[in-house]
Amino acid sequence: TLICLVDNIFPPVVNITWLSNGHSVTEGVSETSFLSKTDHSFFKISYLTFLPSADEIYDCKVEHWGLEEPLLKHWEPEIPAPMSELTETVVCALGLSVGLVGIVVGTVFIIRGLRSAGASRRQGPL
Ligand SMILES: *[C@@H]1O[C@H](CO)[C@@H](O)[C@H](O)[C@H]1NC(C)=O
Repeated sequence: TLICLVDNIFPPVVNITWLSNGHSVTEGVSETSFLSKTDHSFFKISYLTFLPSADEIYDCKVEHWGLEEPLLKHWEPEIPAPMSELTETVVCALGLSVGLVGIVVGTVFIIRGLRSAGASRRQGPL
């Protein structure tokens, strides 16, 4: 749900509309009545409920006599940038080399362990 809060409205006459890719949206739109503030102005909140998709951008459009031209507030979905192929390759190569180093080091330790076990047996009393 997108929320468009329009503050300091006077007189309480305003058009709040939603645009999707520049086209007016009516579905999923709801708004509060004029809510009064202590300074005798009003505010109003409009809601737009929708299913986001990557290729749709939205604007909240406000028309009021106090504005020379309609005011637009823009929103568009943030699509997380896919990991670049280079990053993937580097991560894969690093993982692979860490694994290989582990195997080598492990093998060395096993061989050493076997040797010292054999050596201590040979050094033992006969
Ligand atoms: C609101 O929209 C109506 C219909 O488009 C228009 O006649 C009216 O002037 C608009 N009101 C304001 C405050 O812009």
